Amino acid sequence: MGVGMKKPDEILAEARGALEQAQDAQAVEDVRIRYLGKKGELTALLRSMGEIAPEERKAFGQAVNTAKDALETLLQERKEAFASAGRSAQLAAERIDVTEPSRTVPAGARHMITQTIDEIAGIFMSMGYSVTEGPEVETVFFNFDALNAAPDHPSRDMSDTFYISDDILLRTQTSPVQVRTLLAQAPPVKVISPGRCFRTDTPDATHSPMFHQVEGLLVDEGVTMGDLKGTLDAFAKRMFGADVKTKFRPHFFPFTEPSAEVDVSCFLCGGEDPSCRVCHGSGWIEILGCGMVHPNVLKVADIDTERYTGFAFGVGVERTAMLKHGIDDIRLFYENDVRFIGQFY
Ligand code: DAH
Repeated sequence: MGVGMKKPDEILAEARGALEQAQDAQAVEDVRIRYLGKKGELTALLRSMGEIAPEERKAFGQAVNTAKDALETLLQERKEAFASAGRSAQLAAERIDVTEPSRTVPAGARHMITQTIDEIAGIFMSMGYSVTEGPEVETVFFNFDALNAAPDHPSRDMSDTFYISDDILLRTQTSPVQVRTLLAQAPPVKVISPGRCFRTDTPDATHSPMFHQVEGLLVDEGVTMGDLKGTLDAFAKRMFGADVKTKFRPHFFPFTEPSAEVDVSCFLCGGEDPSCRVCHGSGWIEILGCGMVHPNVLKVADIDTERYTGFAFGVGVERTAMLKHGIDDIRLFYENDVRFIGQFY
């Protein structure tokens, strides 16, 4: 053994000390290279075997190998310790707290107008009506002429109706669907038709240039005003409560004769409260227009008016929703403020 050469167990003690100081996996690797690498200190001792006296060689070789095995074991332990500490740190960093309250994802819901149309349609569908739709851009023929509107009827005015051209307009009512249906289908006819309507109204609490109606039409043999009254009374009770009464007030519509407006008894105060926000103390609320289909309308579709009669009605969707839910401004429906919409989920 050369002079000044360290003994295997000294080297091992030194390496152990260096390993204890190691702060990370790289420092462990540095220790390995320093002692067991190609130019490492223990490797150098093994290479120097030739210089050892033959009688000492065996004991020396064993001592070096023992130190080498011990160091390898230590290196392995330290390496694993750092690897598992790394994994723990990673797991801690990526830990998911399953008890943390989740972020709420607001769910969409049907708009109040859609809900109301669905409710009205559901009631009539349960009575055997089917649902049909008509165009929002209509002809003057379907919106006025075929509905028996007099040539000088005020609603034809430019100041009331959005005209696209002389004969094309945005429909002012869903009633043109009556005529379209009669032209497409022979009696018996039993349909409702929900949709948008347009009038040149300046928006205020009760007016909007765009609003919704649900039209109804029934044509068959032997249909009477009694059928109309029974049907709409049943509708009112389903919509506003089993206790409400209905009242048919004579009115005028060009496409029905006789025509009526239907009032329901106030479902909120029953007429008891003079300051009631729904009926204002009158006890009655107007909910729709209706009547027996005018023969002139049936004639547009060549229907035998001696054989067939019918009734029609038109319900205002916004008005119905406002009454039912105590909404006091029609504009709330279209502003899409979730604080309003969210009340009706
Ligand atoms: N179309 C009418 C309006 O907009 C409402 C209406 C009244 C519809 C009587 C009808 C009806 O079908 O028979 O004011």
